[in-house]
Amino acid sequence: MKEADWDRYVEAYHDGHPGITEEALQHARHPVHGSAYEWLADALPDPAGDVVDLACGSCPMQSHIAYSSYLGIDRNEAELTAARSAGRGPVALGDVTDLDLPDDSADTIVMSMALMLVPLAETLSQVARVLRPGGTFAAMVPATGPISIQDVPALLALTAALRGPGSLPRQLSRRSLERHLVNAGLAQVRVARQRFPFPLTCDTDARLAVTSLYTPGRTPGQLQRAERWLTAVPGAAQLPVPLLRVTARLPR
Ligand SMILES: C[S@@+](CC[C@H](N)C(=O)[O-])C[C@H]1O[C@@H](n2cnc3c(N)ncnc32)[C@H](O)[C@@H]1O
Repeated sequence: MKEADWDRYVEAYHDGHPGITEEALQHARHPVHGSAYEWLADALPDPAGDVVDLACGSCPMQSHIAYSSYLGIDRNEAELTAARSAGRGPVALGDVTDLDLPDDSADTIVMSMALMLVPLAETLSQVARVLRPGGTFAAMVPATGPISIQDVPALLALTAALRGPGSLPRQLSRRSLERHLVNAGLAQVRVARQRFPFPLTCDTDARLAVTSLYTPGRTPGQLQRAERWLTAVPGAAQLPVPLLRVTARLPR
């Protein structure tokens, strides 16, 4: 799919499903790290100072950060309405590739589950411009691993029903992320990966699993089949949510 088609798809998807990323990631809890949002927050400075949450969605990160000031930015109005309805914010409508923020104005910039959706060089150059020297950037994106042997039956069911496990505009590897961060002038890059188990105990879990994926080009029949097949996986079925977390600092 072309970049412009992806942009339209993602916009329409979030119009129809505001807050769904939060719902799915809160369901996939790690026994030690808790939710993926808690895991991302663990990598932030404490206190985090003036924080900007890029592509904030419903602002699930906010309650996990010890901030002096917080601003969430997203270009989807439905997501921002979900954030406000949950008593979060302030939030502002904006595009991460063209931030209406002064230079050197944030101590911490966080970006959860969105770097794979946006042009990297443009976004990271905005991050480097808005961060104060010594400031921290932390992001989390979907990864291809780790997964565990117990994930295989559900992964096979999902992949067979959807002809692939969902889609993304770009799959970011550890290496490409490191390269882009360094090119943008960021340093001290640290990368970690973690698998968050998404339990499939009932029809509702299967529906959330399928609905929370980007599935451009899939028919309603394929989506329903994916739900049915996930519900039918025997035993304590679960899907893996493998994530990659990256942190970097702007040199002083
Ligand atoms: C998968 S959701 C993640 C939301 C939230 N950060 C979370 O982790 O729950 C991706 C978000 O990125 C936003 N987004 C995509 N492209 C964007 C852009 N160029 N500028 C601002 N927001 C963008 C979407 O509107 C959506 O809310």
